[in-house]
Amino acid sequence: KHAGLVDGLGRQIDYLRISVTDRCDFRCVYCMSEKMTFLPRQQILSLEEVERLAAFFVSQGVKKIRLTGGEPLVRKGIVKLCAKISELPGLRELVMTTNGSQLTNLAKPLAEAGVKRLNISLDSLNAEKFNAITRTGSLSQVLAGIDAASQAGFEHIKLNVVVMKGRNADEVPDLIDFILDRGLDISFIEEIPLGNVGHSRGETFCSSEEVRSIISQKHFLIDSTENSGGPARYVRVKGYSQSRIGFISPHSNSFCATCNRLRLTAEGRLLLCLGEENSLDMRSLIRRYPTTDAPIQKALLNALQVKPAQHNFSIEGPAKVIRFMNMTGG
Ligand code: GTP
Ligand code: 5AD
Ligand code: SF4
Repeated sequence: KHAGLVDGLGRQIDYLRISVTDRCDFRCVYCMSEKMTFLPRQQILSLEEVERLAAFFVSQGVKKIRLTGGEPLVRKGIVKLCAKISELPGLRELVMTTNGSQLTNLAKPLAEAGVKRLNISLDSLNAEKFNAITRTGSLSQVLAGIDAASQAGFEHIKLNVVVMKGRNADEVPDLIDFILDRGLDISFIEEIPLGNVGHSRGETFCSSEEVRSIISQKHFLIDSTENSGGPARYVRVKGYSQSRIGFISPHSNSFCATCNRLRLTAEGRLLLCLGEENSLDMRSLIRRYPTTDAPIQKALLNALQVKPAQHNFSIEGPAKVIRFMNMTGG
């Protein structure tokens, strides 16, 4: 046993994001290009392999696991996987980020399988704009999914909004009304330039400061020191005790200094940072060592020594990291 996972810069790593598939039923403009090819099945970790890796990371000190995609709920067997992971001794919480398209069917089973919180992407409340952003998504389906999730007994439900000028920045007030009415949380996210998706991120960029000032025209905001273990900085709205508003500002207010996370891609690459390709091939390691963790632990501790201090994303010009977000798990 050792003192959990600490990287070369002294940052404690206790949050693992696992992408369980690169596939998705949506084609969001900030995440994918219009035509996408997905990984062949045999390249993806099996559910048993995901489970083993989850157990391994929890044994090493990971306290929070978030399942992501692509869209995690298009992976067959996902509910059973959740039930297995949520029971790992030492894990504080299993959470998930989803596009919401399957929640009318799956919200309840997920809550019963021990998923504590859901983050649901919702970039627009206007069907036309929603279609323009997600390309293949259905707003009514996602809204019904959010309702189903609200009834299912999760501790928190948070909406994720990637804010883009000319696409949905004008909808910030409506989205705020929506969450305050329902007692949900929300995060406003500055778009991260991963993959060449076909639009210029500089042109649609909208800073968290701008979003905050739009909200402040109608509401009194109170800074909060709450921390959900993710990158968001939270504020609360005077007069509304339920909802929290988060800002995720990789460009205007980088959170790298307090980074506490690693990402496992659907093919089993452990990414040390969202902003670079350097990764540890966990799939090869677990296939080489089916029953012993010691060599895997050694490789992990070595990799942590070279976790970068920060990303160096720029919203200008083509994306420097060509890996798309759906491969990465957000
Ligand atoms: P909470 O547990 O609710 O705090 O979740 P979270 O914000 O960690 O997870 P979510 O999947 O909702 O991610 C929200 C956004 O934060 C996504 O756009 C992620 O890509 C982004 N994000 C999460 N971690 C990082 C990170 O290390 N670097 C950058 N640049 N973005 C991140
Ligand atoms: N920049 C910021 N957020 C993104 N997401 C997907 N692609 C991007 C991007 N390029 C968000 C999704 C989802 C979360 C996992 O990541 O909206 O809520
Ligand atoms: Fe699918 Fe999520 Fe990417 Fe949208 S952001 S295309 S919902 S993986």
